[in-house]
Amino acid sequence: IKREKIKDLLNSTAFNTEVTVMGWVRTFRNNQFIALNDGSCMGNIQIVVDFANTNEDLLKRITTGAAIAVKGILVESLGKGQKVDIKANSIEILGDSNAEEYPLQPKKHSLEFLREKAHLRFRTNTFNAVFKVRHALAYAIHQFYNERGFVYMHTPVITASDAEGAGEMFKVTTLDFDKTPRTDDGKVDFSADFFGRATNLTVSGQLEGELAAMAFGQIYTFGPTFRAENSNTTRHLAEFWMIEPEIAFADLENNMQLAEDMMKYVISYALENCKDELAFLNERLLDEEKTKPQQERSELSLIEKLNFCLENEFQRLTYTEAIQILKHSKPNQKKQFKYLIDEWGADLQSEHERYLVEKHFKKPVILTDYPKDIKSFYMRMNDDGKTVAAMDILFPGIGEMIGGSQREERMDMLTKRMEEMNIPQEELWWYLDTRRFGSAPHAGFGLGFERLVLFVTGMTNIRDVIAFPRFPKSAEF
Ligand code: 4AD
Ligand code: MG
Repeated sequence: IKREKIKDLLNSTAFNTEVTVMGWVRTFRNNQFIALNDGSCMGNIQIVVDFANTNEDLLKRITTGAAIAVKGILVESLGKGQKVDIKANSIEILGDSNAEEYPLQPKKHSLEFLREKAHLRFRTNTFNAVFKVRHALAYAIHQFYNERGFVYMHTPVITASDAEGAGEMFKVTTLDFDKTPRTDDGKVDFSADFFGRATNLTVSGQLEGELAAMAFGQIYTFGPTFRAENSNTTRHLAEFWMIEPEIAFADLENNMQLAEDMMKYVISYALENCKDELAFLNERLLDEEKTKPQQERSELSLIEKLNFCLENEFQRLTYTEAIQILKHSKPNQKKQFKYLIDEWGADLQSEHERYLVEKHFKKPVILTDYPKDIKSFYMRMNDDGKTVAAMDILFPGIGEMIGGSQREERMDMLTKRMEEMNIPQEELWWYLDTRRFGSAPHAGFGLGFERLVLFVTGMTNIRDVIAFPRFPKSAEF
């Protein structure tokens, strides 16, 4: 099969040459004009059909959604809005589509409707743009780390450890619980299971990533992670992709710099390489904004927001400083908080994070040095004995984009924290070995890939930036 891509033809001036295109029919007007899309870009090419000389049965089969092959001559378009047309010489139906049953009508569908049709929504311009940007961002991430000499590690999907210690794991088992012998206290005996022990889907590749960083110096992971937490929000998924760099001989300062550099690199890559897609998404968002009351409209367009992010340093401040700002925010603002921050030590709610980034600083914020009790066991204890060298990066419209820390490299401090948090040392003997044999300061973070895609595309629901979203009561397709 030989064919030309519509993307290349739309900007071609090779008029009067013969071309072959294949794609899916978006519309067919007046038995004469086919708008054809092949996914190479959002634009359609117009096929002009000589209907007087075309078989009537064939004309009837050119329906919205049908796959067709067209051979014809590339000509300068007489119509407005496009530079080229193809004058069809022959049309072949590759796959029929019953127009009445085809879910995507030639009109604007709501995102909610399209979510129900996730198997077909790639054929719309919005999702063409979103998934092209997603692709570009993934590519940019690999390029960023490759340029800096990081090694891409594939950490396991099935693990026996709960990296975050948050107990939000999906179990992996081959056991038939109805037939499995129980221990004396009635618990399932996992020794009969495939791995001879209880296992789960990974919540993070960090712990394995640390092992590799303590050999290669700089590594990153980029893979699927799973959380059985309440993911019924516009920011959570049960299955999401995470990028987790880990760097040896590094502290929190190095970690923050790496994260900021990475974010700016990938955003600028998207601006340079997804011009058409971002222009389209920018327009889409402007249209959406128009339906909102004036005071709720965002001050910046999508493109302006992305550029703003590149031009400004991320604001760095400690958790303790953030609490002071929240406590002293204007009384009328405080009344809008559902949860008031009265005490040092409380976890920030997303409304507080949003206040800091969207109202107070109006740019990405790196919050550091959180109270130890609201963070994971592996984070390095600060000299005050109360806070850990943690960092969360908060983004406007998103909230937490990145979570990371300097790691506790001191064996005695680490085992003390594990004891306090009831994490048995036997379970993580292999992790503790890195502290036993040549421990060194190191740091890393996790970037939620879908949250990055949300930010760059300006989409508002995380379920619209992953092809087949997984959330409670939904695992179709
Ligand atoms: O803050 P988290 O839980 O950190 C970790 O997993 C660390 N082990 C990372 C590390 O230091 N290597 O998750 C990291 C990021 C969050 O900031 C968020 O962007 C994203 O992962 N994330 C989710 N994204 C979508 N759906 C969910 N349910 C998410 N949970 C976390
Ligand atoms: Mg976090």
